[in-house]
Amino acid sequence: VLVKAFSSSFIIPDFRGFCHHLDQIYNSCKNNTNGKVASYIPQLARLKSEHWAVSVCTVDGQRYSNGDVNVPFTLQSCSKPLTYAMALGLNGTDTMHSYVGMEPSGRYFNELCLDYNNKPHNPMINAGAIMTAALVKPHLSAADRFDFIFNMYRRLAGDEFLGFNNAVFLSEKECADRNFALAYFMRENKCFPEGTRLHETLDFYFQLCSLEITAESGAVMAATLANGGINPLTGDPVLTVDAVRNTLTLMHSCGMYNYSGQFAFKVGLPSKSGVSGCVLLVIPNTMGICLWSPPLDNNGNSCRGVQFCMELVSRFNFHNF
Ligand code: DON
Repeated sequence: VLVKAFSSSFIIPDFRGFCHHLDQIYNSCKNNTNGKVASYIPQLARLKSEHWAVSVCTVDGQRYSNGDVNVPFTLQSCSKPLTYAMALGLNGTDTMHSYVGMEPSGRYFNELCLDYNNKPHNPMINAGAIMTAALVKPHLSAADRFDFIFNMYRRLAGDEFLGFNNAVFLSEKECADRNFALAYFMRENKCFPEGTRLHETLDFYFQLCSLEITAESGAVMAATLANGGINPLTGDPVLTVDAVRNTLTLMHSCGMYNYSGQFAFKVGLPSKSGVSGCVLLVIPNTMGICLWSPPLDNNGNSCRGVQFCMELVSRFNFHNF
């Protein structure tokens, strides 16, 4: 890092100037009071709508953080691309996609439907993420599976915060009629690999949603995706290059619920949002960004998070095309 600093060869050479823009965008989004905090479980309903955090980690380890960047929150659906990337490393692309598609569904994230091959449409919606969970080390006990995935997430976060929110896990499990329906529907249609333990798989899916990060640790996770799977702070090759490519492709086409097409058009960057108000944004080969603000728009995306992405690409030429 020091050699790069002295030779000015950082990926963002004028990082101070860049941070000045980020401050301005942060402040402009702070005034956005639109949206509603998710209320389907009390643990999420209690999140404060004022929370607003932006954290950046570049592929060469430069950092920017503003706001509530050390407040833990649950990953929720932002776990979907990360678990998918890990599952790809375990199973390979062909095996994974013999169980889950790669097509945007055009339907709600928790809709009871399968694609024309009788598979869940993609790993970014609930049915596809439950399938992904089923494909992570299915032969291990529930405890060993959790240990395995927690260790993988720990490597993604490097030395930064990773936790597990048991209250969120328990209430997700209590309020999960739709996810149970999805799993039974998939079992009825013989979607799962033979021997899949349905309830254990659902518990595992709820546990993945209940992993806790902060905006700072989320930025390192996003930066690992931006950096071809190598954690830029630890140098640990957490994810394979193929897994990262597949994951970013599906984040690009399916990461923002029913706003994914518009987001791809207007922002042009792979991203994933979750119901806790988190948005993971990846600028490939450049940086990872984690945005967190609980109030959600009608599509389920963080209002301030989406505004931040729009303003970022209006100032910088980050759109992929
Ligand atoms: O499965 C659920 O309903 C939630 N725990 C999923 C969270 C979420 O962010 C919605 N996403 N697709």
